[in-house]
Amino acid sequence: MESIAVNHKPIVHVDYTDNSPLLTKRQTWRSLLRSKWYRFDRLTRGLFCLMFLMLGCALIARIFIEIEYPFGGKPDSQVTIPPRQDSDNHVAQTDKERRKAVRAAMKHAWQGYRQYAFGKDELQPVTNTSNNKWGGWGVTLIDALDTLHLMELHEEFKEGVHHVANLDFTKAKAGYTTPFFEMIIRSLGGLLSAYEMSLDVRLLHKAREIGDALMPAFDTPTGIPYPRVDVNKGKAVPASRVCIAEAGTVQLEYWKLSELTGNPVYHETAQKVVDLLDNAEKPYKGLYPIWVDINSGKLTSGSITFGGMGDSWYEYMIKQYIYSRREYDQYRRMYEESIDSMKELMVRRSIYDPEMYYVGDLDATATKFSPRYQHLTCFVPGMLALGSKVLDRPDDLELAKQLTYTCFQMYNRTATGLSPEYIQFRNKRDQGLSESTENGMFALLSLRKASEKEKEDGFYLGPNRSYILRPEALESIMIMYRITGDKMYKEWGWQIFQAIEKWTKTPSANSAYHDVTSTAGSSQWTDSMESFFLAETLKYLYLLFSPAEYYSLDEYVFNTEAHPFKIMRHARP
Ligand SMILES: *[C@@H]1O[C@H](CO)[C@@H](O)[C@H](O)[C@H]1NC(C)=O
Ligand SMILES: *[C@@H]1O[C@H](CO)[C@@H](O)[C@H](O)[C@H]1NC(C)=O
Ligand SMILES: *[C@@H]1O[C@H](CO)[C@@H](O)[C@H](O)[C@H]1NC(C)=O
Repeated sequence: MESIAVNHKPIVHVDYTDNSPLLTKRQTWRSLLRSKWYRFDRLTRGLFCLMFLMLGCALIARIFIEIEYPFGGKPDSQVTIPPRQDSDNHVAQTDKERRKAVRAAMKHAWQGYRQYAFGKDELQPVTNTSNNKWGGWGVTLIDALDTLHLMELHEEFKEGVHHVANLDFTKAKAGYTTPFFEMIIRSLGGLLSAYEMSLDVRLLHKAREIGDALMPAFDTPTGIPYPRVDVNKGKAVPASRVCIAEAGTVQLEYWKLSELTGNPVYHETAQKVVDLLDNAEKPYKGLYPIWVDINSGKLTSGSITFGGMGDSWYEYMIKQYIYSRREYDQYRRMYEESIDSMKELMVRRSIYDPEMYYVGDLDATATKFSPRYQHLTCFVPGMLALGSKVLDRPDDLELAKQLTYTCFQMYNRTATGLSPEYIQFRNKRDQGLSESTENGMFALLSLRKASEKEKEDGFYLGPNRSYILRPEALESIMIMYRITGDKMYKEWGWQIFQAIEKWTKTPSANSAYHDVTSTAGSSQWTDSMESFFLAETLKYLYLLFSPAEYYSLDEYVFNTEAHPFKIMRHARP
């Protein structure tokens, strides 16, 4: 019951030629420095020496600060407000009870939104005020619709649909320009899945209205989209570059729109972007620096990452392969190239906890490694697990288990049980071992004694310790449960849910939490609730405690905002 049934289709092994050039041996920074140094006159060299000396002093000061506050941060000085106590002490044990608890959390957050921010983009859940950061079409409402439907909150769903039916996506407040990618994944994605669930045709009309209003984004010299559109003028805002996640995470939504409307233009236009990037020159096979030059179509600069700005570009390779009934072999090839290179260059493990694997980031040339694991990157284990089933790659499932373990520990090892934005690891160099592919600057900054806490945890925290109600770890936990059937994942998900309830729940909804190492409670609330909390975090939790047949992974593929799309019936008409 737990594992998704896989249609064992033979994998087509196509011959493909590798267009990417071999990595040229770069001059190392040491020899570069040596050759440049004596070009400076004496005075300049002296000034440089002084600068280095000061930098050294700063570093020493830093080490002392670290010793004084071993795990960073000063002790809490704020007034401590005790965390909320659950009114009844009954502990939910069964799936049914846990599901009910998640549904109650959704109801609570929706109620606050409805009361204080209905139709606005976001509720500010501490002050009970609202904002219109996303153009004023009510992104929280649109993003939450399919979650309401899936949790059988039908009255709430109906009220939401009624509101959406009266919106006009061709008009925004004067001067506002719509972020293309965010609008596609949250609003177009949300309306398409809400339509497939309810078959309320008003939702499809509105989905098409958004899709059409944003199509001008593709009106560029290469067809690679501009990142923002002025819907009032019906034109995109010209820009020189866009990141690959923004250019490459609209395809699934436009494909679904083509399927549902019978108009192939949406899919064809979005597909051209993938073809172009697929053929673009890369520093390493399957790895894409995040910035694309819109005018030339070249991958110009930026880091290589499975975290922010890169993430969903890779995610959509396997998801489009699944969505297209495994008939677009291009996606299988692209996915396998990327994952093979990621495993070769970007996966490391903690030197203190050998069980703790993570995916770090690389620089644009794929030669320098940055040892940090972003919470955003925690979608990777779920993706690997899906890919392992669909493409019969059992090793990927092992790696997925290891990476999910790390994502869980990001929550489990903080005082609140909430995860920070990212965690950092120590390079081998810090241990006196040399390593060729590491980030010099990063090594400098982490050159400090490991605290006992770091040795126990396996990682240390960076300056950003916020938890902004992100879903990625729970997404992977839900998929891992469905694919392995291991009940441990349900316990992990439940533990995280309880931390979310305990620390982020405000009287009217849930709030992002400023510092997950602080148990100061409500003084850490930042008065923000992004729409993905309702669209993704609570939905994945609910599905974790639902039977595996409910929105089965055999029938649905989730867009990057957790909107379930039915897998296509026929890939090619
Ligand atoms: C916000 O709304 C909730 C629920 O209605 C209420 O309990 C709380 O006091 C309100 N907070 C403020 C700051 O008005
Ligand atoms: C970490 O996990 C263990 C085992 O699941 C649990 O006993 C412990 O309470 C967790 N820590 C936190 C902070 O949630
Ligand atoms: C941490 O990162 C989040 C998400 O990128 C951001 O919204 C927040 O402002 C950052 N917080 C701090 C303290 O830097």
